[in-house]
Amino acid sequence: MGYQSRKYRNTLILVAGVLAIWWSVSAVFYGASKSGFAQLQRHMNSKVKPSLQPVNRSSFDWSSVPFRYPAGELTPLPTGGSSRPLPAVQANFAPEGSRASSVRDARRREVMEVFMGDWEAYKKYAWLKDALKPLSGGFQDQFSGWAATLVDSLDTLWIMGLRAEFDEAVDAVAGIDFGQSSSGRVNTFETNIRYLGGLMAAYDLSGREVLLAKAVELGDLLYGAFNTENRMPVDFIDFAAAKTGEGLTVEASVVSASPGTISLEFTRLSQLTGDSKYYDAISRVMDVFYKGQNKTRLPGLWPTMVSMSRQDVVSGYQFTLGGCADSVRFYVFCYDLYEYLPKTHALLGGHEPKYEAMSLGFMEAAKKLLFRPMIPGNESILMPSSGWVNTDEDIVLDNETEHLACFLGGAYALGGKLLNNREYVDIGAKLTLGCVYAYLAFPTGMMPERINMVPCKTWDDCKWDQTLFDEEKRKRPQYKEHLPQGFTTAKDPRYILRPEAIESVFIMYRVTGNPVYQELGWKMFTAIANGTKTETGAHAAVEDVTHAANLLPQSDYMESFWFAETLKYFYLLFCPPDIISLDKYVLNTEAHPFLRS
Ligand SMILES: *[C@@H]1O[C@H](CO)[C@@H](O)[C@H](O)[C@H]1NC(C)=O
Ligand SMILES: *[C@@H]1O[C@H](CO)[C@@H](O)[C@H](O)[C@H]1NC(C)=O
Ligand SMILES: *[C@@H]1O[C@H](CO)[C@@H](O)[C@H](O)[C@H]1NC(C)=O
Ligand SMILES: *[C@@H]1O[C@H](CO)[C@@H](O)[C@H](O)[C@H]1NC(C)=O
Ligand SMILES: *[C@@H]1O[C@H](CO)[C@@H](O)[C@H](O)[C@H]1NC(C)=O
Repeated sequence: MGYQSRKYRNTLILVAGVLAIWWSVSAVFYGASKSGFAQLQRHMNSKVKPSLQPVNRSSFDWSSVPFRYPAGELTPLPTGGSSRPLPAVQANFAPEGSRASSVRDARRREVMEVFMGDWEAYKKYAWLKDALKPLSGGFQDQFSGWAATLVDSLDTLWIMGLRAEFDEAVDAVAGIDFGQSSSGRVNTFETNIRYLGGLMAAYDLSGREVLLAKAVELGDLLYGAFNTENRMPVDFIDFAAAKTGEGLTVEASVVSASPGTISLEFTRLSQLTGDSKYYDAISRVMDVFYKGQNKTRLPGLWPTMVSMSRQDVVSGYQFTLGGCADSVRFYVFCYDLYEYLPKTHALLGGHEPKYEAMSLGFMEAAKKLLFRPMIPGNESILMPSSGWVNTDEDIVLDNETEHLACFLGGAYALGGKLLNNREYVDIGAKLTLGCVYAYLAFPTGMMPERINMVPCKTWDDCKWDQTLFDEEKRKRPQYKEHLPQGFTTAKDPRYILRPEAIESVFIMYRVTGNPVYQELGWKMFTAIANGTKTETGAHAAVEDVTHAANLLPQSDYMESFWFAETLKYFYLLFCPPDIISLDKYVLNTEAHPFLRS
């Protein structure tokens, strides 16, 4: 990277930071002028009449399983009439000039073209498979073989107005057989966020009955995860055993996100069906988290590993806002539990106060895991870290930031708006700019999976100190000379098409109305689209984003979240803000929008 471009990036960051903070003060809380975006895309309004599409029922009826451990009395969906409506999430957008409008629209179309190229590749090489292998043109069935990429992409197809492609995909959904699985063990978490979330969001947008029918079949399969002695869900559903209803055994230790990340989907499924059994199932789990929240070693947060068999969510020492290593899958998302607290609060219209209390508790506590990194331009940004509580009860940060934790800026911004807390929105802005900073700092314009930076002692006073930086980098065996100033490692130098950073940029844009987020997002998009392109016309994870090269080393990997999340967030960033308004929808952790009712 040349001096000029580095200087440009630093200037951009500085401008962004100042503007973002100014906007969150002036626009967010006092309201800007009336919305100028009148042109809501026609297709978003026109729900199709449910067609008489035949639904092929799955070969097994999951609703007929006789449970050894039935629920007993059901907790109904909360519908308290007394609570006030929740505060607005989105800014009042200033009128858009015609030049700004045409730039924005050209960018929107460019994102759509990238999506369409990749969708063609999926259709050509991996139709009805879980994932495309973007280098070899092969495929992979790692999520039970129910066409994960197709289901995950339905709502993106709809939002982009690709109706013919959407119809074709919905026809294929009608034939999915949830009575069979390519694996004997079904992953509860992934099946929930990708498949159930994908089906319900596509139903909420389009009103196609077949999508709800399939969501209910799958919901009943997942409901089988709760057929356990203490009604806590299993992490993996033994497919054959679940069919008998004889009962499943809860794992002794799981990452906290797994049981904690069903709340949004099961709440929506109860809302859509009027059957409270799904909400009841998840409310028992969330009660365990609620009761334990203030009793952990870092009150407000739950340890990385919890035991649902003992209903122990308080004992561990390790805390993370990013990914988690677990014994079964090496690396999984671990943050969704937190993100789901304000989101479920929104979906329930504020009618269950526990979600508000848990959101507040988590956002207060998570501040202790944030740090302001020392960077050459002295810009005020924040980074999330993981940490542990030592034997003296002190919190020790590892000063390590994962791309996965970049969701946190958006979570603070959303939670801050819903809880009417300005400080949290400001923290959200600084966290978002922290991840954007990392994108812009590396010569490929992409952020590595995992990095280390040098924290300042306080958030207020943080000036670049070369001597201190040199000292800190010597402590890191993974330090490499070519890393940009400010980074002491890029421990995992890959970029694997992840969405979390653009997700936060999108939310900050909708929350503040500040167009600087669109500019930052556009820089990210051009870097990613260019750096990850493959010869099959699709996009692939890259192995090392810390070196610029004509062709970056790639791996044969394109997860469905590229369609479901990354490209959707980029697309929505360049849409008029009433498309998937955050006052109307809440997006699950796989970016599937559910109607807030
Ligand atoms: C539904 O099942 C019939 C009979 O097995 C089959 O011919 C048809 O292709 C299936 N429909 C879909 C959408 O898979
Ligand atoms: C935990 O503490 C917060 C704030 O101190 C409080 O609002 C919340 O109700 C507490 N949770 C429980 C289960 O007592
Ligand atoms: C950052 O702070 C250091 C130490 O005060 C100073 O030398 C440097 O010029 C500052 N950098 C910028 C871009 O303002
Ligand atoms: C992270 O940075 C803080 C503040 O400089 C330091 O106290 C702590 O030891 C660092 N953590 C690790 C694991 O080096
Ligand atoms: C595209 O990526 C390649 C490889 O990193 C780089 O050499 C080239 O400059 C990039 N082009 C643009 C327009 O960013």
